[in-house]
Amino acid sequence: MIAGSAPLLRVHELSKTFPGLKALDEVSLDVHAGEVVAVLGHNGSGKSTLVKILAGVHQADAGGSVQVRNAEGRLTAWSAAREELHFIHQDLGLADILSTVENLGLGKPARGRGFAPVHTAAERRHAQQLIARFGVRFDVTAPVGGLSPAQRAIVAIARAMDGWTRQDNVLVLDEPTTALHGDEVRILFDAVRRVAASGAGVVFISHRLDEVLSLADRAVVLRDGRVVADETTSRLDHDAMVKLIAGREVADVDLTGGSGGPPVLTVSGISGEEIQDFSLTLHAGEIVGVGGLQGSGREQLSAMLFGARHRRGGRVEVAGRELASGDTSAAIGSGVAYVPADRRRGGAIMDLTVRENLTLPSLRPLRRRLGRIDRRAELAETRTWMRVVDLRPPAPELPLKLLSGGNQQKVVMAKWLRLEPRVLLLDEPTQGVDVGAKAAIHELVVAAKNSGTAVLVCSSDTKELVSLCDRVLVFKDGRVISEVARAQLTEARLVRDELGLDANLKTDNTE
Ligand SMILES: Nc1ncnc2c1ncn2[C@@H]1O[C@H](COP(=O)(O)OP(=O)(O)OP(=O)(O)O)[C@@H](O)[C@H]1O
Ligand SMILES: [Mg+2]
Repeated sequence: MIAGSAPLLRVHELSKTFPGLKALDEVSLDVHAGEVVAVLGHNGSGKSTLVKILAGVHQADAGGSVQVRNAEGRLTAWSAAREELHFIHQDLGLADILSTVENLGLGKPARGRGFAPVHTAAERRHAQQLIARFGVRFDVTAPVGGLSPAQRAIVAIARAMDGWTRQDNVLVLDEPTTALHGDEVRILFDAVRRVAASGAGVVFISHRLDEVLSLADRAVVLRDGRVVADETTSRLDHDAMVKLIAGREVADVDLTGGSGGPPVLTVSGISGEEIQDFSLTLHAGEIVGVGGLQGSGREQLSAMLFGARHRRGGRVEVAGRELASGDTSAAIGSGVAYVPADRRRGGAIMDLTVRENLTLPSLRPLRRRLGRIDRRAELAETRTWMRVVDLRPPAPELPLKLLSGGNQQKVVMAKWLRLEPRVLLLDEPTQGVDVGAKAAIHELVVAAKNSGTAVLVCSSDTKELVSLCDRVLVFKDGRVISEVARAQLTEARLVRDELGLDANLKTDNTE
């Protein structure tokens, strides 16, 4: 940071009112050259709203101001210097049907069905170079809708970092790491540190507090749209941040109770895509975790068990009844619930309301004799679940797309838990969820276990696997390379197994 110089970005007493809700309330913050500023806060505290105002998506209320430092080193109105701010939005903002080349603003989209997209070899090469900075290679001419979450994130990041006008531009990242695994996070952080070291300012939003401590110089904490802390990170630790964000201490879940019910889900020898010859017996009242790096097969397993991804060979049985590959309605009929990682693509319908999303998978219990839905019962039940997951704001008729990312995830979890499934398949259940809500969701999962549900949790978050699971299967190259029992379960052990450093030591008792 250059002492005495004007900040690159100055937000002064910024407010934003949505109908019936003050999302931001006189927020002020500065970002200096070379500085990484984390913006933290619970789901719905206003972080993305702030980003959207900076990006010109929303207009702020009258009264506050946003200023950006110009080439002469003086602060100027935001509207005169918009091109100096660069963004990676929470939903990445990519066009799924377009290729990486096109999403990077290179080449021209295809002019209709059957036409090949128009981009030159030079444009393809340039796109390859931009993503190669992140240590990855993939087909830059394929539609980005078919890429993995990590690859999509990298396209968004590469795009934001491409249009730099000066070294001291400002880069704003809204939860860029939710879809990324350890190695990819490191690549991203190296890139962010490089741009900060060359004089840029960075605004970084994340719910992963360890990441914040390792990357950010300063943390600004929002609670209900107000700044409640603005601190150098060296003066904060994990627990202090939790308290600032949640407004209280948050305890870990208490994983009590045995795990010895009868088998509910039996899988023998299934394969498909990256997964080879997978078998599992999942018991009632048991939480089994699935770990593994991106590409290990971990991300495909739950969809395959549910029938949403094709599988070959073997058998999947729920309570003695065989489920055919690809038959998701048979799975639902047998009491299987599936919460996918990407809630936008499979878990939720953004244009429907909270109430509709909650009651969508099964309206049967709410139907009266004549087939009409009992609206009052539906609303009462919606309110109960909103309370259970601490939905903010607790508005049943709000379309899901107007909720913050973490609150959308809570609705998706509630919608499946409500059905009291026999088998619960969870993929990244707390991705993008704040520390308080994460604890609430973990409690719900443990409550489901205690009431006899068989739970499978696939997660890239090793801490989550350790705190939640009775045992964890670790995938590598499509196969389970180790099974770690609760007594041996530590983050260090999981990370070692995920990297394949310890493949032979299935019964490691040294920790
Ligand atoms: N277009 C909109 N209309 C009405 N309310 C909105 C709109 N966009 C956001 N909100 C509300 O504003 C509040 C702040 O939302 P925002 O997306 O900024 O939260 P966030 O801090 O980014 O949360 P998360 O961590 O879950 O992403 C929320 O209560 C949200 O429901
Ligand atoms: Mg957000």
